[in-house]
Amino acid sequence: MPQYPTALQNPVFRTISKAAKNLNLESYVIGGYVRDFLLKRGEAKDIDIVAVGSGIDLAVEVSKLLPGKPKVSIFKTYGTAMLKSGGIELEFVGARKESYSEESRNPAVENGTLEDDQNRRDFTINALALSLSDNSFGELLDPFNGIEDLKKNIIRTPLNPDITYSDDPLRMLRAIRFATQLDFIIEKNSLDAITRNAERIKIISKERIVDELNKILLADVPSKGFALLLKTGLLPFILPELIALRGIDEKEGQTHKDNFWHTLEVVDNISKTTDDLWLRWAALLHDIGKAPTKRFDKKLGWTFHAHEFVGAKMVYKLFKRLNMPLNEKMKFVQKMVLMSSRPIVLASEVTDSAVRRLIFDAGENVDDLMTLCEADITTKNPKKFKKYHANFQLVRDKIVEVEERDHIRNFQPPVTGEEIMETFGLNPSREIGVIKDAIKEAILEGEIPNEYEAAKEFMLKKGAEIGLKAVIK
Ligand code: CTP
Repeated sequence: MPQYPTALQNPVFRTISKAAKNLNLESYVIGGYVRDFLLKRGEAKDIDIVAVGSGIDLAVEVSKLLPGKPKVSIFKTYGTAMLKSGGIELEFVGARKESYSEESRNPAVENGTLEDDQNRRDFTINALALSLSDNSFGELLDPFNGIEDLKKNIIRTPLNPDITYSDDPLRMLRAIRFATQLDFIIEKNSLDAITRNAERIKIISKERIVDELNKILLADVPSKGFALLLKTGLLPFILPELIALRGIDEKEGQTHKDNFWHTLEVVDNISKTTDDLWLRWAALLHDIGKAPTKRFDKKLGWTFHAHEFVGAKMVYKLFKRLNMPLNEKMKFVQKMVLMSSRPIVLASEVTDSAVRRLIFDAGENVDDLMTLCEADITTKNPKKFKKYHANFQLVRDKIVEVEERDHIRNFQPPVTGEEIMETFGLNPSREIGVIKDAIKEAILEGEIPNEYEAAKEFMLKKGAEIGLKAVIK
């Protein structure tokens, strides 16, 4: 049996070993910790421990032996317990046999052996266990040859995949997520079983689905996961908006690009430059408005009129459907989708006033917007590719130059409403808004600089124009 004592250098493992000995039971570290150690993915923050006996009793005993006796959280219904030690979360469970019902993810549980417990796990690479017993400390227990699958980069279920996935349909998403994160292949029987069971994803909570989607989106090459979601038939149950982007229509010899595959390219592109989950979501959703707005016009060819606006509205509905946060993150994604074509127009002619308007509208998100638009360049024509990137560089330079001079990013009106009221002896009224707006427009257009004196002078002129008389000058 191969030995991996170096995986267990953290002193907490010896403590668990001792606690298990005190209770006269066997214990093992299992799952993600072992997998990630063997893949050299860095030390995990979560460690899963299996006790052949009561996981709760073991957790309580471990706590007694640890400095400061950390609090044990007990989940009686699941027979699990958790405690935190030195920034690490230790999860304890008793080895068990499980059988699932058709209707839910919650299994009927009975006590079992280590092997029973390994059987019920999702993938061979997640069923690897290291012994914590004194006489075999660090010994690998690998009944399904998970180590071989790890070497060959294969995702495989310990049991018949139809059983594993039907027992817990979340595992279909986990398979795709691990394949994406680790750049592994899902073994064919498994892939077929996911395809057969895809509809069962409906019984999984939205939160868990989104957790997996987020992990796919945060991978180095997220398109791999979305392509698998498409291939297995899971995507229509999760993100039908993306499915609607698929395909190329032809009319009168005119075609448009396949916006599904284009979107995936944009997501991969942006993933090379940002780890921001929400900016990656924005890339994934930036074109969703194109499906409902697609029209063919004899003169213009294919159009997607106002798709940014429609797309931004769809973002809200999508977030709501998936129980995602309807907070500033959602608003950020909406804003990115809404503005996703703005810099493209600029790239052909970069005027100061257009750049000022862009900075004004995008505010603190202007850099993110540029990052999204650069990722949106997916042309296969190297000349065009170079030209578009060079133009965006010009826009970026101009943004810096204009912002340094005009300070538009966190625009504050240089003349306040109060001063307008005092100057013209006005009570709160519509005219104040008209003047304020005119000042803002004049600044954005470059008619006046973003400065107090110039704005005040402009205010007096504008007031006179609309028939107001200054009572103080
Ligand atoms: N597991 C399972 N089926 C699930 C979820 C988890 O069989 N639907 C098992 C696997 O053995 C897994 C372990 O429980 O390794 C721990 O699950 P979790 O912490 O969710 O995943 P990790 O494998 O640790 O990976 P990650 O932290 O990347 O999610």
